[in-house]
Amino acid sequence: MSEQAHSTVAVTGVTGALGSRIAARLAERGVPQLLVGRDPDRIPELPGAQRRGPAEYADASAMRTALAGASTLVLVSGRPRGRRLEEHATAVEAGRAVGVERVLYVSLIGAAPTATYRNARDHWLTERFLAGSGVRHTIFRAGIYASTPAALADEDLVVSGPGGSGRAAFVTHDDIADVITAVALDEGSGSEHDGATLEVTGPEAITLQEMVSRIATATGRPYRYVPESVEEAFARRWRQGVSGVQIESWISWYQAIANGDVSAVTDVVPRITGSPATPVERARWWPEPRTTG
Ligand SMILES: NC(=O)c1ccc[n+]([C@@H]2O[C@H](COP(=O)([O-])OP(=O)(O)OC[C@H]3O[C@@H](n4cnc5c(N)ncnc54)[C@H](OP(=O)(O)O)[C@@H]3O)[C@@H](O)[C@H]2O)c1
Repeated sequence: MSEQAHSTVAVTGVTGALGSRIAARLAERGVPQLLVGRDPDRIPELPGAQRRGPAEYADASAMRTALAGASTLVLVSGRPRGRRLEEHATAVEAGRAVGVERVLYVSLIGAAPTATYRNARDHWLTERFLAGSGVRHTIFRAGIYASTPAALADEDLVVSGPGGSGRAAFVTHDDIADVITAVALDEGSGSEHDGATLEVTGPEAITLQEMVSRIATATGRPYRYVPESVEEAFARRWRQGVSGVQIESWISWYQAIANGDVSAVTDVVPRITGSPATPVERARWWPEPRTTG
């Protein structure tokens, strides 16, 4: 445990895969934390951490109560339900009202108003909000999660979609958490990370075929990738009763890979953590299929 005195960090999303990893790392380093969640019963218990909530990003009053006492806010982005900019802005303003001086925001690789991957578009809006807010901030554009193809598999462990033979620089949750933790610990004013946008990727760009085959090797289970045309993908999901918004989001994830939009490999993981980015087959966590194909 570090001997250095740290100021208090509030971490949101701690009931999820990324926030829980960030919180665990900060606890290991002796950082006092406020762990913020919508369901306090599911917030982890960690040394040096207070559990705060229930607090939903859109609830300014609950967020002010939850964030009181923190100087840094690690804001894990919420789910895309159409009001993410407003939710994130409310959370940031609530933090600022009670003394938060710095925001570390988890965005998405390729964030842009015209991003192929539908879910990356409103991350760009939150990035713009932060840029204009005057608060010290760092943006982490998380690469495509290595875990996602495993979650997208159906009950037969088949991952199908219109990803073609495009490549993505899949990245593990653990590497992203390591990067964010390192930046959170670099808390002095004038940190080189203030105002930075860090694109956090894996060590190489691989096709979905390769990715799924590595998941099969890593898990010892027969995952496989079956490419589909966009038309086949739409028709299958529509038959399954999936909503139009979800079909669009899901197809656009594959299309971003097919187009090569998420294939750039950056040096952020080794530069910030001092360790090479983890090859995807060495990921320590594979979610079970969500059986939604
Ligand atoms: N880079 C990628 O490939 C990729 C893929 C998928 C998602 N993402 C984004 O990255 C984020 C973190 O990923 P993850 O794997 O940790 O996801 P996750 O396991 O689903 O966790 C999301 C966390 O955010 C919390 N949350 C969501 N909406 C919230 C809201 N409106 N107010 C308060 N808390 C809220 C959730 O709380 P509850 O437990 O109460 O729901 C949960 O703790 C996701 O939320 C999403 O925005 C990125």
